[in-house]
Amino acid sequence: MIEPLQDLINSLLSYAGERLAGVSEGMQLGPVIGDARGMALAEFLLGGGRNGVLEILERDDGFLSVTDMARYFLPIQQWRTTHVWACDQARGRILDLGAGAGTHSLHLQDRGLRVTALDTSPFSIEVCRARGVQETFLGTTSELRERSPEPFDTVMLLGSGVGFLWSREAGKAFLEELSNQLRPSGRVIAEEYSDVRTLDFAVGSMKPVQERLIRSNSKCGQEIGFAKYRYRHLSIATDWFDWIHPEISYALEVFESAGFEVIDAIEEDCLYALVAEKR
Ligand SMILES: C[S@@+](CC[C@H](N)C(=O)[O-])C[C@H]1O[C@@H](n2cnc3c(N)ncnc32)[C@H](O)[C@@H]1O
Repeated sequence: MIEPLQDLINSLLSYAGERLAGVSEGMQLGPVIGDARGMALAEFLLGGGRNGVLEILERDDGFLSVTDMARYFLPIQQWRTTHVWACDQARGRILDLGAGAGTHSLHLQDRGLRVTALDTSPFSIEVCRARGVQETFLGTTSELRERSPEPFDTVMLLGSGVGFLWSREAGKAFLEELSNQLRPSGRVIAEEYSDVRTLDFAVGSMKPVQERLIRSNSKCGQEIGFAKYRYRHLSIATDWFDWIHPEISYALEVFESAGFEVIDAIEEDCLYALVAEKR
């Protein structure tokens, strides 16, 4: 077994052990807060992709979505068009923000581009390293800037990356922070799906579930497509976090408000991808 995978196994076992050891007899049971999604990615990698690990994403309206982790390790031939198109728009020095399994970073690295895979999930960063991503950073973008201020030409926000703009205010602040890390005319490439557009493609009882979320957003004065989420894996859960799956018009407005111009975009079913250039 290659060394990075052995390290990953060791850290996975000790992580799970330490987290779960806190639950002793007589204590109230419930999920232990931790890096659930990163752990699922790591377990999938360690099982060589044969072990059927699932991603469980819980939305605060009670909706659970379940995805085979294999989806995050697919070769480019099986990617959605929006992901392929987004990677084709990348140039220069690249920051893959929220890199997850590192699949896009590896693809860009193989094309000879210099990529930093950044994630706040420790296991995701271990997975990126074990798969061969050469430059990784565990932490936030502002922590990276403190450590190494060399600017980027491209920031990638793939796999529902517009979700980082979960409110107009938070989105503007997030993009202004990214702008500080970009060279003049640097670009942000983002990919997302729209909860509203899912209504056109939803089958069976999925449609009323999505309609209920959208009605609830309107009633509560929230942006359409906003919800709180958390990932689950075994008895580990992440903290709840704010996220949004908005229509492309919302993304365009937030990018504009933060000093970016959206210079290109494509749409496919309920998915879209866009390139925004720093003005
Ligand atoms: C929806 S996943 C997308 C993963 C990957 N880009 C893909 O396309 O499969 C979002 C990723 O962002 C990471 N993340 C969430 N908040 C973050 C933050 N503030 N800074 C960096 N990464 C973050 C999560 O750990 C997760 O790996």
